[in-house]
Amino acid sequence: MTFAALPPELRDAIEQLVHAAPQQSLAARAARTSDAYRDGRGSDATIRDAGDVAAYLAARLPATYAAIAASLNAVAARAPGFFPQSLLDFGSGPGTASWAAAQAYPSLHTITMFDRSTALLKAAKELAQTAGNPALQNAQIMNGGLASHETAAAHDLVLAGYVFAELPEAELKQTAKRLWTLCSGILLIVEPGTPAGFERIRMIRETLLSQGGSIAAPCPGACVCPIASPDWCHFTVRLPRSRTHMRAKGADVPFEDEKFSYVAFAREHIALQPIQARILARPHVMKPGIRFKLCTAEGIVDRTITKRDTAYKTATRKDWGDDV
Ligand SMILES: C[S@@+](CC[C@H](N)C(=O)[O-])C[C@H]1O[C@@H](n2cnc3c(N)ncnc32)[C@H](O)[C@@H]1O
Repeated sequence: MTFAALPPELRDAIEQLVHAAPQQSLAARAARTSDAYRDGRGSDATIRDAGDVAAYLAARLPATYAAIAASLNAVAARAPGFFPQSLLDFGSGPGTASWAAAQAYPSLHTITMFDRSTALLKAAKELAQTAGNPALQNAQIMNGGLASHETAAAHDLVLAGYVFAELPEAELKQTAKRLWTLCSGILLIVEPGTPAGFERIRMIRETLLSQGGSIAAPCPGACVCPIASPDWCHFTVRLPRSRTHMRAKGADVPFEDEKFSYVAFAREHIALQPIQARILARPHVMKPGIRFKLCTAEGIVDRTITKRDTAYKTATRKDWGDDV
């Protein structure tokens, strides 16, 4: 099981911001935020003041952080020689993806976040100021949409975490293309791991393949996506819940599992380690061996590694989302 916890300094900074906000309504606001996102309403309509921001930080950010961190890990495994210096975080909200990228890539020197929510950007600024990492501390935090970034130079790493869900359908392709033109290295887009989230990822995948991008993750190649409805390609990551997180969610279990879908594209000069397949579901451990559901260049296949197989020991360490 993939596991991703917030860095302690981000966790502590969130605690402080959340405790400075009105406490009585935290759980109600967190529930309203979840319902709104589940119903396809965007942050604009949902996050209006400091209390709503606190609810997002307490109840939602740890999960989006975990999903982005897990996706970045998959990218790093495929592109081990990639050391980005500049990052563009589109739809940064409170800076979730920037924090995950700063953790995954200490090589980052400059971070640019932009978003159209004044309330979330205020939190992004307050959180970034607490960071020991100079790239985060000096991050450029800009209010606006992609149009406000018209003349910017390309960035080595471009991230969009849980943003495409909030864009009008007519803007999805052009936004993906625009982010690709702003990317000189790797572009990673992460969405909720729902059938609708995956359909957006599939559309982005097809759009960027037509622009000449190479798939860095999760797909083993550029073949036609073999996933057929009602199945959808998604992964899961487990994250710890702090006491504040549990209170905001009215939860009594100290962890949760976040489902996510993602795709990462690399420019031609980025060397990618070849992979044969991606594990698409939790491996099924049986008496004779382990059965894997794999996405391969030949389509979806079930493969069983028996206990007598020389690959068995390695197979016992493989999990949903890993490459093979
Ligand atoms: C669900 S939040 C995700 C925030 C953050 N990336 C994360 O993973 O926690 C979606 C963010 O996208 C921003 N957003 C939506 N449409 C946008 C647009 N057209 N331009 C800039 N930001 C946008 C919202 O304001 C919000 O902060």
